[in-house]
This record gives sequence, C-alpha cells and structure tokens, in this order.
Amino acid sequence: MNHSSTARAHGRVNLIGEHTDYNGGWVLPTPIPQFTEVTITDVPGRSVSVQSTQGRTFAYELGNETKTGSWVDYVKGATHLLREVLGSKGGIHIQIHSTIPEGAGLSSSAALETALLKALNQHRQLGLDVIAVARLGQRIENEFVGAHVGIMDQMATGLGIFGEALFLDTLTLDYQRIPLPLETFDLLVINSGVAHRLSEYDGGYNQRREECEEACRRLGILHLRDIDLNTLKTSKLPEPLRKRARHVVTENQRVKEAVVALRAQDLKKLGQLFLESHLSMKSDYQVSIPEIDLLVDLCMTHESVFGARLTGGGFGGSIVALTHKGKSAHVTGEIIPAYEAETGQKATRLI
Ligand code: GLA
Repeated sequence: MNHSSTARAHGRVNLIGEHTDYNGGWVLPTPIPQFTEVTITDVPGRSVSVQSTQGRTFAYELGNETKTGSWVDYVKGATHLLREVLGSKGGIHIQIHSTIPEGAGLSSSAALETALLKALNQHRQLGLDVIAVARLGQRIENEFVGAHVGIMDQMATGLGIFGEALFLDTLTLDYQRIPLPLETFDLLVINSGVAHRLSEYDGGYNQRREECEEACRRLGILHLRDIDLNTLKTSKLPEPLRKRARHVVTENQRVKEAVVALRAQDLKKLGQLFLESHLSMKSDYQVSIPEIDLLVDLCMTHESVFGARLTGGGFGGSIVALTHKGKSAHVTGEIIPAYEAETGQKATRLI
C-alpha cells in the first residue's frame, strides 16, 4: 500500500537583524500564518514527480537532478543532497501546497525546503533532528541553487512558534524564545508586490556576502561580530566595504537592543530601532528599493506607527511595521492606496 507523509512549515518575518546571519550575528524572526505543506507518497521506479496546487508539475529521475534556475531547484537540491539515503528506496510523488508569496522576503523557499525535508525525514525515517534539517536546507541553497544565504530562514521555518520571536545566535545556533507582547501592539507585514530572486541570477545578495567576507579578510577577523564600531571607525577599510561592515556591526547591536526593548515593552524604542535598521539597509547596505522606501516613509508619517523597515534579503519584498494596538487596519487602509497610486504596484497585507 502507498503510505504518505505530510509536513508543514510556516513562512517567517524577520523583526530585525538583517544580513547578519552569514556574518555570525544575531537575528529575530517570528512565524507568519502563511505556510507550505508537502505530502510525499511512494511511486514505483526511481522517478520523482512533483505537483503544486498552483498547477505546476515536473518530473525527474532520482540521481539525475539538473539545475533549472527556478523554484524546482529547491526540490531537486533536496533529493540530490540526500541521494545516498534515498537512492536505494524507490520513487516518490511530492505534492506541494503553499500560501507564502514568492520573492516577498518571507522565506517561501526555506519553508519549502523545511517542509520537504521534514516530510522526507518522516517518510524515509532518516533520523534528522531540527538543526540537521535546517543545515540541509541551507546547503540546498548554498550548494545546489547557488544562493549564499545564511541559516536564519531555515532555523526560523523549522523552529518558529507563533507569538514568540526566535532570538538566534547564528554562529553557535543557541537561541532564546522571546514572547511578543501582542496585547500592546499590532504587527503589520505588507508585500510591496516587487518580487526579488535570491539566486545566482540576481547577484546582489551574493555580492553583499562577498563584500563582508572581503571586509573580514582585510580586518583580520573571522566574522563581523568580532569587531566593534570604534575599531571599525579607526580601520582603513575602503568603501563600500566600510559601510557594509558598519551596517552589520550596528545591526547586531540593534538586535540586542530590540530584545531588551521587547522584554520591557518599550515600543517607542523598538520602533526607533526598526527605522534605524531600515535606514542602515538603505544607505549602508544598499539593499532597499524605492518602492520599499516609500512604504516605510508612508508608515513613518502615520501617527499610529512606532516604526517600519524592509524585512528579508531586500531588492524587493516586504516591510514589517509596528503599530499602536488595534490600529494596523487603519494604517493599511491609508498607506496601501497611497502607495499603489504612486507606484502602480499592487501591495498586499499579509499580517
Ligand atoms: C535572506 C536569506 C537569509 C538572510 C536574509 C537577510 O532571507 O535567506 O539567510 O541573510 O536574507 O537578513
């Protein structure tokens, strides 16, 4: 009889701590209601057939995973990395259902990797724990897809719990769960409608990572977490490496301050950190785009908003904002029409 295994992973919104994860730094993601669900069923032979509820299908043979440059590579990367354990066990059918928008900075790819790896883990009894699943997910990106991402998204989609932020040290993978005092504020996530692509076809992300690695080489350190702002100021780092490093160093500091502010329910401070993070991503890290800046500006001129920022890798995607309790619908109702009128893009509220 064909038995099947199903697993689900939610997308994430990163509250603060952007482009710190591949620098050994700290991040603060929390899950979003949107999710990806994967069901695996046995089929005869060595074929892998994939069907998504969006009507997309494709098929290949186990052990014959060739890169296509599309979302299919997340699936192929998984069976490729697990080829030794999957190879002897026969074909599979993979059914995918996802409600996470792609390219919106909300971890649609990591959720697919995590749900798929969890389902394969169950189905073939691979004995992987949650950290092993996250590390494999990151390897799919790094080694198969060619996106040199950190481990935040795979950890967040594997370990996230609603109502809590995951304060993660991406070097040691130690984490603390920080309760979100959602009775004191609303979280707002708006997709700008401008999609990014985290693959080698869009080199911006990988280029930032290379710049950070070059900065470390010149500074004689292993990770940008190993330097403070004063030492950075007196170093002889050329531009743009200096400002890239400044973003990472100050962003790490902001994550730690955000955790203190969250615990103290100091929303004014948290909002201020959101905005500072955004401005740092805009000027020092240069990963924002005009549409995202406009959404943040519209939020910041609204009296009910504590703070707003680009979330995720950038070059498109979404913003996250913190509003006064019960005011997020009102804020959305005012800023989305203004944004759409100015840009012609269709924005969507996700939380
Ligand atoms: C993407 C990557 C993460 C992280 C963020 C930026 O989401 O997958 O590893 O680098 O960008 O913070």
